[in-house]
Amino acid sequence: MTTRSTDATRFPRLPAGFTWGASTAAYQIEGAADEDGKGASVWDTFVRRPGAVRDGHTGDIACDHHHRFAEDVALMRRLGLDAYRFSISWPRVLPTGAGKVEPRGLDFYDRLVDALLDAGIEPTPTLFHWDLPQALEDEGGWLSRGTAHRFAEYAAVVAERLGDRVKRWITLNEPFVHMSFGYAFGVHAPGRALMLDALPVAHHQLLGHGLATAALRAAVPDARILIANNCTPVRLRPDARQDEDVAAASAYDALHNGIFNDPLFTGSYPDLTAYGMADRSWGGVVRDGDLATISAPLDGLGVNYYNPTWVTAPADPAAGLPFDLAEPTEPYERTAFDWPVVPDGLTELLTGLKDRYGEALPPVWITENGCSQPAGLHDRARIDYLAEHISAVADAVSLGVDVRGYFTWSLLDNFEWAEGYHQRFGLVEVDFATQRRTPRASFAWYRDLIASQRS
Ligand code: FCB
Repeated sequence: MTTRSTDATRFPRLPAGFTWGASTAAYQIEGAADEDGKGASVWDTFVRRPGAVRDGHTGDIACDHHHRFAEDVALMRRLGLDAYRFSISWPRVLPTGAGKVEPRGLDFYDRLVDALLDAGIEPTPTLFHWDLPQALEDEGGWLSRGTAHRFAEYAAVVAERLGDRVKRWITLNEPFVHMSFGYAFGVHAPGRALMLDALPVAHHQLLGHGLATAALRAAVPDARILIANNCTPVRLRPDARQDEDVAAASAYDALHNGIFNDPLFTGSYPDLTAYGMADRSWGGVVRDGDLATISAPLDGLGVNYYNPTWVTAPADPAAGLPFDLAEPTEPYERTAFDWPVVPDGLTELLTGLKDRYGEALPPVWITENGCSQPAGLHDRARIDYLAEHISAVADAVSLGVDVRGYFTWSLLDNFEWAEGYHQRFGLVEVDFATQRRTPRASFAWYRDLIASQRS
C-alpha cells in the first residue's frame, strides 16, 4: 500500500518551526522500581498479579533509563530531536501520592531536564502516564474525586522544581485508555473490570487535568499546557446497516473521543443517556463548576494515533454496551501487534477534530504515533509506517489543520504494558539482557528527515 516516497529529501515539507520529537513513559523505560525512596505504583503491583502480563514480565528494570539517561539523551541528540516527551513517575516524587516529597525523585528529573537542555532538546514531561501511586489506588484511585486534587498538588510540586526550565507540559496520557483498559476491562493496572461503572474515572481524570492546569499556570506563568488524548476515527464496515450500525458508531465515538475532547473544547459532555450509557450526572460525579475547571483554555491538544476503530451494532444488546468492536474487512497491512496500518485515518482524525471544534480547537501536536515491528535493525516496515503517517499529517496541514509537531512512539524498545517486552516500538533496539542500545534503520531515516525538513 505504500505509494508515497520515503525519501526524506522528497518529503512533503511541514511548516517552519514544526517540532520533531520522540516519546516515552516512566514505567516503560526507567526501571529502578524501588530506588531512591520511590513508592509503589499500581503497575508495580499489577505486574505481580499472576497472568496479568505476558510471561510475567515487569518494569522493574525496563530500559534501565534511570541509570542510563545520559546515554539516551546522547541518542536523542544524534537524532536531532527538537523535543522529548517523557513522563514523570508520580510515586518517585511523592511515594505515597501526597504529603511527603522525595527529593531524590525530583533530583532525577532535574538532571534529565538539564541534560536535555544541554543537548538543545525541549523537555516535554507528561505528569501522568498511568503509574498512579498505589497508596492512592488503595483509597479508590481515579474512582475517587480526591485523586484529582492530589494530582493538582503533585503538579504544583513538580512545577515548582522544574518550571524555571520546563515550559511545555502535558497533564495526562490517554485518559480513555487508562479508564477502559485499567478500570473497565481490567487488562492494565489497576486491573479492575467495572465496565460502564468505570465512567467516574473519566471525569476524575479530566477534573485532575483541569485542576493541574490551574496549578501549573500559577507556578509557571509562561507554561504551555497540553493533554495527550488517544483519538480514533470510528469506521463502519462496508456492509453496515444504516440505523443500527451508525448508532453504534456514534455511541463508541462518544465514549472514546467525545467524553475526553468535548468537555475541553465545548465545556460539556456528550449526552451518554442517548445511548443508554449513563444518567446525566454519571451518578452524581459531575458537580457544578467541574466543567468550567476542565474547559480552561489549553495551549494545545496532544493526539495519540494508532489506528481507526471499526464498530457494529451489538450482537447482544442486553450485554451492556451499545456497540461491538469489529475487525476491518479491508486487507490492511498489520504491525507486529496486529494493529491495522491506516495512515489516512490520521488525516481523517485531524480534519474531523477541526470540523467538530472549529475555532475552539487549539493547535495540535501528534504526541504518539509509531508501530511495533519484529526485532532486528532493518526495520523497513517502520520507515514506511512513519513516512506514511507523517505524510498524513502533512495532508491534514494542507487541509487547514494547525498541527505543530510530531512525537514518534517510541525512542526505545520498552515495556509494552500487558505485552511485556514482546512488542518493540523503538527507533533504537534494546537488548534487555545487556541493555545495549543499537539504532535501527528507522533511526537514521528519522534523523535524515528531521535534518532535511530543517534545511
Ligand atoms: C499508547 C500508550 C503508550 C504505548 C503505546 C504503544 O496507548 O500511551 O504508552 O504503550 O500505546
